[in-house]
Amino acid sequence: MAKRTFSSFEIFLIFLLVMMTGITVALLSLLFITSGTIENHTGVPSTQSPPATQGSAAPQNSTPSRAPTTTQVSPTPSTPKTTLFQNFSGYHIGVGRADCTGQVSDINLMGFSKTGQYARGILTRLYSRAFILAEPDGSDRVVFVSIDIGMVSQRLRLEVLSRLQNKYGSLYRRDNVILSGTHTHSGPAGYFQYTTFVIASEGFSNRTFEYMVAGIVKSIEIAHTNMKPGKIFINKGTVDGAQINRSPTSYLWNPQSERARYSSNTDKEMVLLKMVDLNGEELGLISWFAIHPVSMRNTNHLVNSDNVGYASYLFEQEKNKGYLPGEGPYVAAFASSNLGDVSPNVLGPHCTNTGESCENANSSCPIGGASMCVAMGPGQDMFESTQIIGRKIYDKAKELYESASQEVTGPLASAHQWVNMTDVTVWLNSTHTAKTCKPALGYSFAAGTIDGFGTLNFTQGMTEGDSFWDSLRDQVLGKPSEEIKECHKPKPVLLHTGELLKPHPWHPDIVDVQIVTLGFLAITAIPGEFTTMSGRRLRQAVREEFEAYGMLNMTVVISGLCNVYTHYITTYEEYQAQRYEAASTIYGPHTLSAYIQLFRVLAKAIATDTVANLSSGPEPPFFEQLMSPLIPNIVDRAPAGTTFGDILLPANTTYRVGEVVEVTFVGANPKNSAENRTHQTFLTVEKYEATSATWQIIHNDASWETRFYWHKGLLGLSNATIQWHIPDTAQPGSYRIKYFGHSRKQDLLKPAVLLSFESSPSVFEVITTW
Ligand SMILES: *[C@@H]1O[C@H](CO)[C@@H](O)[C@H](O)[C@H]1NC(C)=O
Ligand SMILES: *[C@@H]1O[C@H](CO)[C@@H](O)[C@H](O)[C@H]1NC(C)=O
Ligand SMILES: *[C@@H]1O[C@H](CO)[C@@H](O)[C@H](O)[C@H]1NC(C)=O
Ligand SMILES: *[C@@H]1O[C@H](CO)[C@@H](O)[C@H](O)[C@H]1NC(C)=O
Ligand SMILES: *[C@@H]1O[C@H](CO)[C@@H](O)[C@H](O)[C@H]1NC(C)=O
Ligand SMILES: *[C@@H]1O[C@H](CO)[C@@H](O)[C@H](O)[C@H]1NC(C)=O
Ligand SMILES: *[C@@H]1O[C@H](CO)[C@@H](O)[C@H](O)[C@H]1NC(C)=O
Ligand SMILES: *[C@@H]1O[C@H](CO)[C@@H](O)[C@H](O)[C@H]1NC(C)=O
Ligand SMILES: *[C@@H]1O[C@H](CO)[C@@H](O)[C@H](O)[C@H]1NC(C)=O
Ligand SMILES: *[C@@H]1O[C@H](CO)[C@@H](O)[C@H](O)[C@H]1NC(C)=O
Ligand SMILES: *[C@@H]1O[C@H](CO)[C@@H](O)[C@H](O)[C@H]1NC(C)=O
Repeated sequence: MAKRTFSSFEIFLIFLLVMMTGITVALLSLLFITSGTIENHTGVPSTQSPPATQGSAAPQNSTPSRAPTTTQVSPTPSTPKTTLFQNFSGYHIGVGRADCTGQVSDINLMGFSKTGQYARGILTRLYSRAFILAEPDGSDRVVFVSIDIGMVSQRLRLEVLSRLQNKYGSLYRRDNVILSGTHTHSGPAGYFQYTTFVIASEGFSNRTFEYMVAGIVKSIEIAHTNMKPGKIFINKGTVDGAQINRSPTSYLWNPQSERARYSSNTDKEMVLLKMVDLNGEELGLISWFAIHPVSMRNTNHLVNSDNVGYASYLFEQEKNKGYLPGEGPYVAAFASSNLGDVSPNVLGPHCTNTGESCENANSSCPIGGASMCVAMGPGQDMFESTQIIGRKIYDKAKELYESASQEVTGPLASAHQWVNMTDVTVWLNSTHTAKTCKPALGYSFAAGTIDGFGTLNFTQGMTEGDSFWDSLRDQVLGKPSEEIKECHKPKPVLLHTGELLKPHPWHPDIVDVQIVTLGFLAITAIPGEFTTMSGRRLRQAVREEFEAYGMLNMTVVISGLCNVYTHYITTYEEYQAQRYEAASTIYGPHTLSAYIQLFRVLAKAIATDTVANLSSGPEPPFFEQLMSPLIPNIVDRAPAGTTFGDILLPANTTYRVGEVVEVTFVGANPKNSAENRTHQTFLTVEKYEATSATWQIIHNDASWETRFYWHKGLLGLSNATIQWHIPDTAQPGSYRIKYFGHSRKQDLLKPAVLLSFESSPSVFEVITTW
């Protein structure tokens, strides 16, 4: 190999990397010197027989309900009410939404893996949206939960299942509960147990994990308590102008004959379920549409739910008239699908230095390389792009919702297995087999994508490694085995995560495969990000399998980012091109074929009513002693003579609509508010109502019109800045902005306490433009 020289910048980066790796390893070994413990998570329902399917008469063996552990939610009997509502064609439907934001400071945002992309405030809250659907006689039920987070982690799911079991016995189980992340890249990290993600999160944050688990469970509890008989209608339609394929050259590796069957290199179809009760009162909706929620860039530091979250917001605000965002009974979920290669940055990739297109196999610019090649959204800035794309999705959903007329009827069923994904034998044809691999990430993983490039100037499409990085890796992490290198070809292995086990495995071996069906609708729960063509192949295979066993004309939807995160899944052909998505297909070239085979088994079991015969498979581990976050908790301080919430920079006296109000306060670390939740919002915008002589809250921190920025100072000092982008619809009058927080205080020899505070109001007038 030709001798290579390094620029001083590269040498600096290398030095930095070595230092960081050294520090990480030192910290890890310090923290884990005693451990390596892998403990089975005992609380998880593991081997209960799955529910009867297809209306078979198998008895529901649910253990009698245990008394709920809290009294917060009214203790509804958890055994199905078999006597009520027996004679109607639909389902029992329950919907629920709960806050699951976690901490909005001192934690990485999950998605871009960009060092230093810490949360520094909030644009919108994150919600868990739960839907419970049960048969009219109350026997079988399924739960679908869409959560405004990057992805569901295995730890999150295991903990949620364990708490559901404690509260409801065997009503909600591994087979009938689907947890799906919307894939926003602007939610907090820190809720993972596999080392790759723990490092990317810079630790495991119990604070955020607890907050998310509690929110998810609460959304299910709310849905559970408000179940009532209703009907589900399905509709489908295409959303135009919201997506591009971000690896179009990989897509072209798929066979011409296959591509010829589709009019686009992304899936434009939205599938939507509309839920109403028997009086026609609207309850909620679930829609699935394939799009990466990365309209917000890797330069963003405000926690938010991105484009699909904005679509939820618009729909819920419209249906929950008179409620603040995040409140009100109507629940609208915009769930993820086969979005692996789908970007919302529809203006496409351009070189930020020269402006020319960099739509090439390496997404690389002639001057400056890959780090100059960035895809832009349609708006002036990322906030506007998010709203433009979100509104397109919302508009189509609204149209489909209003015209939905085909009712979903038929029995409910669910099938689930845990699979050791490192060890699946794939039948290529009747005579030849291949194997999946132990997990590994390829070189192009480090390149990132046109939606957010990697820090180290790698390019996509690398089919050969680099001796420098190889030897650096060998020194720090050890050599990958010949077996793993061979198995992943043509991927050059950058990180052999499947062979890295300290302090805990770096990637999961055990993954979930799961299908639930409602009549002719099948929802496949995918543990990662399928590309467009991967999704098409899986849908077709599952549909054919159902058909082969007598379930004709099934509608199959891909539900993405479910249950456990395993990065990407490309087709075998796309894998050969080794762009980012292929380099991140961690179980090797035959990953998709393995999933197709596994999902066929589930489909067949449902169609032949033999779900009870499926083995549960190997139970995933639940690790103890995860690395704590590197950022310490320190006491908050206010400058001398001030206190938390004092106004540093007040609002001006008057504003016109369209202007931005800004107020700065003496702040405290907002992560405290993820532990002590005396206040549930960081801000309110209030309007004076002369008739009642009261201040009415018109916005909270879940509103897209408000932004809460936190500026971290030294030694516990900080400022909080609240913005209100005054909408054109604002009425003239008197307004005020308030800030709410919690400060950490610690007296000598006493445990820390987190005390709530409320700012003084900053008052101003809004006048019309003329
Ligand atoms: C169910 O409803 C149908 C009409 O909607 C009626 O014909 C039938 O008798 C009802 N069955 C029972 C058991 O109430
Ligand atoms: C995580 O937080 C919960 C609730 O605050 C607490 O009960 C638990 O002990 C914490 N776990 C660890 C490992 O700190
Ligand atoms: C990245 O690599 C390209 C060549 O691939 C080079 O032109 C560019 O200067 C490099 N950028 C940095 C920041 O090292
Ligand atoms: C998965 O299978 C591989 C190969 O058989 C085995 O080495 C590994 O221990 C298994 N993983 C788990 C978590 O059981
Ligand atoms: C099965 O696949 C292998 C490998 O792709 C190929 O060599 C063989 O010819 C195929 N056999 C049949 C019967 O198609
Ligand atoms: C660019 O992509 C091609 C595959 O399309 C690959 O052969 C080549 O090595 C890549 N170039 C670089 C610099 O990574
Ligand atoms: C198949 O289902 C679709 C809706 O998913 C429906 O429009 C179509 O009429 C059905 N076709 C047949 C043959 O039942
Ligand atoms: C499923 O299990 C039942 C009871 O264990 C058994 O009688 C039946 O033969 C099995 N069916 C299949 C298809 O394996
Ligand atoms: C209003 O306040 C902003 C700071 O929030 C300041 O930059 C601006 O100059 C003020 N405008 C007027 C008219 O006072
Ligand atoms: C807080 O705001 C004050 C006044 O605007 C400013 O002097 C100070 O530097 C700010 N401190 C931080 C930590 O941002
Ligand atoms: C939370 O805040 C309230 C109000 O300031 C306070 O009474 C309570 O002790 C705090 N809880 C904790 C755990 O610090």
